Amino acid sequence: MIDTHSHINFEEYKNNFEDFLLRINKADVEKVIIPGVDNKTFQEISDLANQYDMLYFATGTHPSEAKTYKKEDMLPFLKNKKNVAIGEIGLDYYWETETKELQKEIFNSQLEIAQEYQLPVIIHDREAHQDSYEILKDYKLKDVVYHCFSGTKEFAKKCLDKGYYIAIGGIVTFKNAKDLKETAQFAPLDRILLETDAPYLAPVPFRGKLNSPEYLIYIAQEIANLRNIDVEEVKNQTTLNAKRVFNF
Ligand code: NI
Repeated sequence: MIDTHSHINFEEYKNNFEDFLLRINKADVEKVIIPGVDNKTFQEISDLANQYDMLYFATGTHPSEAKTYKKEDMLPFLKNKKNVAIGEIGLDYYWETETKELQKEIFNSQLEIAQEYQLPVIIHDREAHQDSYEILKDYKLKDVVYHCFSGTKEFAKKCLDKGYYIAIGGIVTFKNAKDLKETAQFAPLDRILLETDAPYLAPVPFRGKLNSPEYLIYIAQEIANLRNIDVEEVKNQTTLNAKRVFNF
């Protein structure tokens, strides 16, 4: 499996990092993509990716860090062969720590870069489905991944119609996640990606604890249960999907 979104550069994982990677590998996760959050993270995540074969990274400024954004900070990292995407970028109207106007401005700027470099984008969309969709539709992007998908079934249909990918995380294992369970059931399997979004949103039975790529199997298993298919099929197809999107 490939964990397409995991912040394992965070402080929580720094102790015995190499043992941690071995455990991830034993849990059947062959690759992990570490998304960028702001310009302070780019050097660190590219260093990790260059040091360890199984790690890759994405360059991008999260909407909550919009004030720190400078286009020229990103550019040196885009030619690194372990940079596989622009992300995480998007809109966050839940916290709205930055104005919608500024969030949209840096979102557009980063989408222009993704279009120019023909890199896939990893989208953070929190309570901003309509606006993120409206902005994205004007670009010719290699691929669009809705990270930690949180829309309704209807919104998932709109995204799938556009050819976007739906990345599913630990929330799908939560009892009350009716919408996401529905999406995990009906979306074509060749358009679903797996992610943990560690350290956040650990799947059941670890809900509320520190998350880890080691728990990716619990997400794959829940999707398999919902679709009434073998977990191996979910593992194989989502791995192929990630390889296609991120050019592995
Ligand atoms: Ni994230």
